[in-house]
Amino acid sequence: MPRCANEVDTGLGLGWTPPDPFVIRFETPRLVVRAYELTDAAALLEAVSSSREHLLPWMAWARAGHTDIVESTHYIASQIVALRARKTFNNVGIGIFDKADGRLLGGTGVHGVHRDTASAEVGYWIRADAVNRGVCTESTAHVLSWALGGQESGGLGLRRILIYCSAANAASSRVPEKLGLRAEVMQRQDYFVQGIGCTDRLGWGVMAEEWDCTHHRLREP
Ligand SMILES: CC(C)(COP(=O)(O)OP(=O)(O)OC[C@H]1O[C@@H](n2cnc3c(N)ncnc32)[C@H](O)[C@@H]1OP(=O)(O)O)[C@@H](O)C(=O)NCCC(=O)NCCS
Repeated sequence: MPRCANEVDTGLGLGWTPPDPFVIRFETPRLVVRAYELTDAAALLEAVSSSREHLLPWMAWARAGHTDIVESTHYIASQIVALRARKTFNNVGIGIFDKADGRLLGGTGVHGVHRDTASAEVGYWIRADAVNRGVCTESTAHVLSWALGGQESGGLGLRRILIYCSAANAASSRVPEKLGLRAEVMQRQDYFVQGIGCTDRLGWGVMAEEWDCTHHRLREP
């Protein structure tokens, strides 16, 4: 997330540390959201390969990433390693699976974890043939509950989550809007999108005390 150049995450401040053990698996009404396993590599490759045009230009990694099984396996291995490297952990990609048939529908994750403020960014993508069925909104609501939930109950114990996107990405903007998150960021021409150019950066935020992790929605005011 954008920070001042002088601002270094010293690990002081709130001094957040990952849960131990670091297990990621939760269910929503229609989905299973869980850490990738090496056996997911072929499904991940297929999901990205079949959705490349849809993912571009928003997911820059889709331009040249996941072009063969070795690359997808390597990506998953790096996510498994990230969960074990507790001292350096600041980023993990997670799979979104259809509860009914186990199909890989997309990815989500926490990125840019800052230990001093116990904050992170949440990102997402959904395969082309599964969009506009509320999958991203459903998974993101539960990702927020997991990320902001207490570590004693299987959460990450973060204090604050941000979702960023380009103002040109209307579908992505709808997700935090539908979840009722607070519009916090509007940075003019600060988000470069290949093929479009410099676009406005939008960001939505939510604090742990504002999110109802039991009902996966904003708390009533
Ligand atoms: C953004 C994305 C994850 C949304 O996934 P999804 O499962 O379709 O999301 P949902 O169904 O929960 O909600 C999508 C909303 O966007 C709306 N939408 C979809 N395409 C749209 C468009 N071109 N313009 C405006 N709104 C659009 C849908 O109508 C829906 O809103 P509604 O419920 O008010 O009708 C998916 O489109 C995607 O993977 N995009 C490419 C990758 C990406 O942009 N990732 C985010 C980067 S910041």
